[in-house]
Amino acid sequence: MELKFKIFRFDPEHDSAPYYREYTVQADPTERILDCLNRIKWEQDGTLSYRHSCAHGVCGSDAMRINGVCGLACQKLVKDFAQGEVLVEPIPSFRVLKDLIVDMNPFFEKVESVRPYLIASDPPEKERIQSPQDRKKFDEAIRCILCACCTAACPIANENPRFIGPAPLVQAFRRVFDSRDEARRERLENLDYPDGVWACENRFECTRVCPKEIKVTKSINLLKRELKK
Ligand code: SF4
Ligand code: SF4
Ligand code: FES
Repeated sequence: MELKFKIFRFDPEHDSAPYYREYTVQADPTERILDCLNRIKWEQDGTLSYRHSCAHGVCGSDAMRINGVCGLACQKLVKDFAQGEVLVEPIPSFRVLKDLIVDMNPFFEKVESVRPYLIASDPPEKERIQSPQDRKKFDEAIRCILCACCTAACPIANENPRFIGPAPLVQAFRRVFDSRDEARRERLENLDYPDGVWACENRFECTRVCPKEIKVTKSINLLKRELKK
């Protein structure tokens, strides 16, 4: 199958403005868009820059906007681009460092602000016991790989850079609903401000794009409900 790629290019050290470059790639229908990018880089244009690591939807490093939808290049199959044209751009509202590589630091600073780790007193003699029912409460959120697709797709996060954004809220959800965590109240108070959990307007774009199929909007609404209580 032949695919025509149009890829966003920008090297701030050499280019005065971003531009798009076109490439043609032969690929099997079962290959992924990441395989095509690798082929372009290895066989046609070694200057193309993008992040990737695991190539199996685990590390979260290859988020990009593909035909207008944020997702992981390693999870997008060639056969789903039967029209033969693929527009690849960096995730929106993130500063471009080079081509498809964006500055993730502001994103991770917001994740860090929710203290994404267990807060509990000294460990017991053995393990911390949790019932299967309690564990189930944050089963989905634990799948988050911090790829930032949700934040990039969120129209509110695009308009308002102060909005904490959906991914940090998923991280907060995971700890607020963890029966072993002892900072539930502080965690909720930490989200209780206009650019915190309340800035979300239920537009569901985060849920639509999440590659781990986390119900992001629902998680945010459960945090709001806990705060209202
Ligand atoms: S919630 Fe989903 S889209 Fe958002 S960072 Fe986590 S895995 Fe990525
Ligand atoms: S549901 Fe909330 S966080 Fe998700 S995209 Fe919509 S506004 Fe953004
Ligand atoms: S390369 Fe790791 S998630 Fe895609």
